[in-house]
Amino acid sequence: MRIRAVETEDCRLLWEWANDRSVRASAFNGKAIIWRNHIDWFFNKIQDSNCYQYIGMNDDGRPVGQVRFDIAGEIAELDFSVSMNDRGKGYGHQLLLESIKRFYKDTGFPYKLLGRVKRMNSGSRKIFTQLGFLEKKDVSECGEIVIYGPMVLDAFFDIEKSD
Ligand SMILES: CC(C)(COP(=O)(O)OP(=O)(O)OC[C@H]1O[C@@H](n2cnc3c(N)ncnc32)[C@H](O)[C@@H]1OP(=O)(O)O)[C@@H](O)C(=O)NCCC(=O)NCCS
Repeated sequence: MRIRAVETEDCRLLWEWANDRSVRASAFNGKAIIWRNHIDWFFNKIQDSNCYQYIGMNDDGRPVGQVRFDIAGEIAELDFSVSMNDRGKGYGHQLLLESIKRFYKDTGFPYKLLGRVKRMNSGSRKIFTQLGFLEKKDVSECGEIVIYGPMVLDAFFDIEKSD
């Protein structure tokens, strides 16, 4: 999987992916996203130095998913998704792994990574666990949301430092 930065041409693709029914179901705001609002959001994000957004390209050079890191202080919260027709092929795992490496390489800073996932989202939870994220245990009010991190994934950060 090749990871590249999001470009302005990706605006529509990201809108389509974000409006996918299962992506809305996994989001904390489940409402459909209006195109006009998406454009404002997208161009804000693309100019925001605290936001890193990537697209995963498969071996055929086709975009299959997106990852976004939103930085606040020393924490980077991440969001990711795989296009509907490409799920269940291992892309989600590769996408998150390669994007984290790329993020650490681009920033050069050991940000603590944070993921918030709905409890019923088994696929996403499995990927977080496989990559070494730990569930936050000390938040009793989490309820339907499972929080991974915030933590530095040392293995990935160290690899990029030694490049
Ligand atoms: C969650 C999501 C990214 C998974 O992507 P994917 O490409 O289908 O995942 P993978 O094929 O890499 O699967 C990784 C592992 O999770 C498992 N898995 C994937 N979807 C699953 C599901 N719905 N239920 C249970 N296990 C699942 C796979 O079997 C695989 O396990 P394995 O390594 O033991 O075989 C994708 O379903 C998606 O985009 N969902 C909507 C958006 C979303 O939920 N984003 C995460 C919010 S942060």
